[in-house]
Amino acid sequence: MIGPARSAASRFPPGPRGYPVLGVLPHLRSNPIRTFLDAADRYGDLVHLKAGPYHGFLACDPADIKHVLQDNARNYHKSPLYDRLRDSLGNGLLTSEDSFWLRQRRLAQPAFHRQRVKAMAGAMVDCTRQMLERWDGIASRGDAIDIVAEMMALTQAIIVRTMFSTDLGATAAIVNRTWPIINRRIGETFWSTKLETSLPLPANRRFWRALRELETVVYQIIADRRKTQRDESDLLSMFLAARDEETGAGMTDRQLRDEVVTMLLAGHETTSLALSWTYYLLSQHPEVEQGIADEVERVIGDGQPGFEHLDRLICTRRAIEESLRLYPPAWGFSRRALGDDGIGGYRVPKGSLVFVIPFVIHRRPKLWPNPDRFDPDRFAPEQEAQRPRFAYIPFGGGPRGCIGNQFAMVEAQLIVAAVAQRYRIELVRDQDIRPEPLITLRPAPGIRAIVSRRAPRSLVSSVTLSRRPSSTPH
Ligand code: HEM
Repeated sequence: MIGPARSAASRFPPGPRGYPVLGVLPHLRSNPIRTFLDAADRYGDLVHLKAGPYHGFLACDPADIKHVLQDNARNYHKSPLYDRLRDSLGNGLLTSEDSFWLRQRRLAQPAFHRQRVKAMAGAMVDCTRQMLERWDGIASRGDAIDIVAEMMALTQAIIVRTMFSTDLGATAAIVNRTWPIINRRIGETFWSTKLETSLPLPANRRFWRALRELETVVYQIIADRRKTQRDESDLLSMFLAARDEETGAGMTDRQLRDEVVTMLLAGHETTSLALSWTYYLLSQHPEVEQGIADEVERVIGDGQPGFEHLDRLICTRRAIEESLRLYPPAWGFSRRALGDDGIGGYRVPKGSLVFVIPFVIHRRPKLWPNPDRFDPDRFAPEQEAQRPRFAYIPFGGGPRGCIGNQFAMVEAQLIVAAVAQRYRIELVRDQDIRPEPLITLRPAPGIRAIVSRRAPRSLVSSVTLSRRPSSTPH
């Protein structure tokens, strides 16, 4: 935002006053999305939010976001809100800074090259087929499933397979048992203090125990792989083979552990939520869902979905992109200014927090006409060309943008296509589904749905499909 001329007295942009000392911190802890949405609606593109000891700035103008995430990214570190993430992820790509981060990013980058992701497409489809085979039994019994749990299990299976090549055998049970405890805990303690998370309370102990167990498994896998020196062409092999350009050194076990746990978290939770929200939206927009089924039929027929089909699965891709707009799984992130800066004509003092909230930016009416409407055509090239790049940031942007962006989109497109080939998903009626902003944006309390086998095409043309109305209309 290039702010209008203002008096020297307006040191900060306008914003809510909040409570003495705490400012809006209590609001942020109890209902962060409402607080950010209201602030942007009421005060505009740049809002001053006092959050406890910090001056906070909510930036909603794409030019300001570009400034923070890209043009002046060197002046920003991840905010103290990422400290709780460090408790589990250590110093991996998501949480590290400066030259250490840059080195790790360079080491990891080739693993996410499009050709590498292409090689992982088979594993993605394989895992999806296993899920669909299980659904066959569920469909014939007419039982309801929880879409969120299904997508979480599926994307977890995919990241484990692409990271370690194998299905992990017995150790999979340990990952499956410990991961939900760790994951839940990361979400729940996002706004907590170090003290709150260090006390020997039952929840903390449970988390420490789970983390130790998971770490033991991860260290064991690393040790085995180092011993056998097998190159499985998976993410772990790439990390193990990576060498620093200058020193020739590889990663230590501790670095590998941090990167592996980071990828486990970042590589499946967000994608599973993107898929869950996509199904939530599709169930309320049967015409789009049918459009996807028709497209899949046309492009893939009865064959196995593959990387080579992706460019032609246009409706599928746009529906996922639109879902990422309305319900961005990484709904908000934040930075801390290392030195004084200027944003939108205002001074941003050293130490300030800058909040970048995709959930709010993706619903700004001046960037997105009729913002609450689900309309995948917004991602047609003509419409995209009219928007500033930083108006759409489900994967962040700049040097710290998501490294797994392509991985996630390939995975999501393949899953939606493979499911659409075989199943229709209808939500069980009368559910009250709300976005729950933990570290990611979860549909709470889950999404209960009935899956039914799609009728063969030859029958569909002569039969009018009766649709059960879905739950909460969007
Ligand atoms: C729909 C799925 C996904 C979404 C919405 C998403 C979103 C994001 C966002 C917004 C960031 C930037 C956070 C910030 O600036 O503070 C990020 C970073 C990151 N993501 Fe993703 N992500 C997704 C999938 C993935 C996948 C599949 C992987 C890995 C397999 C992954 C790995 C990472 C890593 C390692 C970072 C840190 C990058 C760095 O700082 O260098 N993400 N992601």
